[in-house]
Amino acid sequence: MQSAFEKDGFFVIRGALTEAEVDRLANPICRAFAAGEYDSHNPEKAYPEPGIYSMGPKILGEHPEIASVSLAHPTIVRAIEELFGEPAVLAQYWSIMRPPGAGVDEAGFVPGSGAHFDYKPWRCVGSFVKWMFAVIPFVDYTEDVGPLCVSPGSYHRTTVLDSDGRVHPVDAAQVPPAADVELVDPSLKKGDVVLMHGFCWHEARPNYGTTDRAGLYMKFHAQSSPPACGPWIYPSAVAEALPDEYRHLVPHHRADGQCASVRGEPVGGIDEAQLVIEDADGRILLLGDESTGYTLPGCTAAEDSGAGILDTGNVMGSVMAGAKSATGLDLPWLSWLLDVPGQLGGDSRCRVYGHRLLESAPALTAGDVTYRWLTGAEIESATAAGHVAGGDEVRRWIGMWQNQVDEEGCAVTRSFGVP
Ligand SMILES: [Fe+2]
Repeated sequence: MQSAFEKDGFFVIRGALTEAEVDRLANPICRAFAAGEYDSHNPEKAYPEPGIYSMGPKILGEHPEIASVSLAHPTIVRAIEELFGEPAVLAQYWSIMRPPGAGVDEAGFVPGSGAHFDYKPWRCVGSFVKWMFAVIPFVDYTEDVGPLCVSPGSYHRTTVLDSDGRVHPVDAAQVPPAADVELVDPSLKKGDVVLMHGFCWHEARPNYGTTDRAGLYMKFHAQSSPPACGPWIYPSAVAEALPDEYRHLVPHHRADGQCASVRGEPVGGIDEAQLVIEDADGRILLLGDESTGYTLPGCTAAEDSGAGILDTGNVMGSVMAGAKSATGLDLPWLSWLLDVPGQLGGDSRCRVYGHRLLESAPALTAGDVTYRWLTGAEIESATAAGHVAGGDEVRRWIGMWQNQVDEEGCAVTRSFGVP
């Protein structure tokens, strides 16, 4: 498996699930599609009309039992963690339903025209550098209903570059014109699971058949490779249903229904944000002064109003606007550090991001804002004097950012996130 995956960027585990296991997974999901309980449901053009319909992780709140035949299936998790060489974290849990006629148009489909890969620095479910898909087809992906084609070796064309000390740039491949993309049909059957490198080019073909083509498209990232936009928030019911050895797969969850979904409007489960903004010399921006006390810049967070399900949870647009009005600074990118409890109580959540500027201690232009650019030693003594709100936490976050480690102190590969 390891050598085939490294060469081709994908590997099919034949018969990873029994037919009965696939049915246990597919039945509640397909029933939900039939009931219109999927994301961005539009009654004017709804399943089963020809189209492409999708459903995020909300189904796991209603049916946590399907975790054991999908995200926590022993065969799948063992293979992924073996390929990563470290623990995995579930990023995306997304079902796609393509009824007959999906993707079919009068002009005719040109093979290769839909080839793409899913490294997306603007998505919670695409902004990591060490990750893979695990796709579970609910039916045989025949020539008729539409294969999921993959491009062998294509993932080698995208390169993760060395860190600048905080974040890793990605030299992302440009997928060539349709005629120049080599695609193969891995002939996925019900019960098979295809593991696909995150940078692997792939293409779903139209459904020319007479039956539904549906499947589950999961993404996992290595624990050492967090999403730059921050994680999707899952229903707590699924995290609680997992046996101990699989709990690490779903670390980010809420019990109050605020999980990644678009039911009417986008929901991401992120209420506010704080920012570790560093200058070119390693000083950190703190608002306030010794008399009023210091805080990190922060603001309330909001989803992008136009977000589809895969765009939920990325609140960077609102955070950048909040930072601009509070400080006058333009922050072209951010990278997620961690989530902490929010000020609203309950399950509310505050997302903490880092950013490093190219300049040294720029003067802030926003109104009459009081601020300081403080060194680590200055923050330490201000914290000791009780002048920094949550000073010990703030110092911990700065350490995570500057030392490129996670909350446990383990090394991580952060990357760039954008709205
Ligand atoms: Fe894709």
